[in-house]
Amino acid sequence: MIHVLFVCLGNICRSPMAEAVFRQIVTEKGLEKQFVIDSAGTGDWHIGHPPHKGTKELLGQKGINCDGMKARKVTDNDFKYFSYIVAMDAQNKEDLMNLARNNSIGEISLLSDYVPSSLWKEVPDPYYTGNFDEVYNIVEEGCSHLLQHILKQHQLTV
Ligand code: 4NP
Repeated sequence: MIHVLFVCLGNICRSPMAEAVFRQIVTEKGLEKQFVIDSAGTGDWHIGHPPHKGTKELLGQKGINCDGMKARKVTDNDFKYFSYIVAMDAQNKEDLMNLARNNSIGEISLLSDYVPSSLWKEVPDPYYTGNFDEVYNIVEEGCSHLLQHILKQHQLTV
C-alpha cells in the first residue's frame, strides 16, 4: 500500500481538492487498491467540517464526488503512517517539519516539487483569493506529476 496525505491550513479548500483529484486520477488508472489517500490541516478551526462550498462546486463541475469528506487536523501518527506528506504551501511545509521533529517515515514535500520547472511554487489559498478554478488547474497538474513520481519510485507501470 502507498499512503499519501495532502496537507493545507484549514483542510477545507486546497487539500480536500487535492485528495479528491488525486483519488480520481489513481482510480482512472485502476490503481485505487494500491493507495490510501487522505488529507488534513495544520489548523484546527474547521475540524469536522465538509469541504468549502467553492471546492465542492468545482469538484462537482468536474464530476468528482466529495460527499462524506470531513476536515481533520494532522496528528503525530500521520508521520508514522504516510510515506508521502504533500504540503500545499511553504508555511504548511514548515509547520509539518516542526510537527514531525525528524520522526517522519516518508517524504514531506511541496506539491510543486513534483512539477519540473513549474510556474507556481505554492497552491494559492482560495479561502482568500476566491479563485477555485485556478486551484483546480494547479492541483490537477501537481497530482498528475506526483503520481508519475510515485509510480517511478515504486517501479509500477500502468
Ligand atoms: P485551506 O484554506 O487551507 O486551503 O483549507 C483555508 C481555510 C480556512 C482558513 C484558512 C485557509 N481559516 O483561516 O479558517
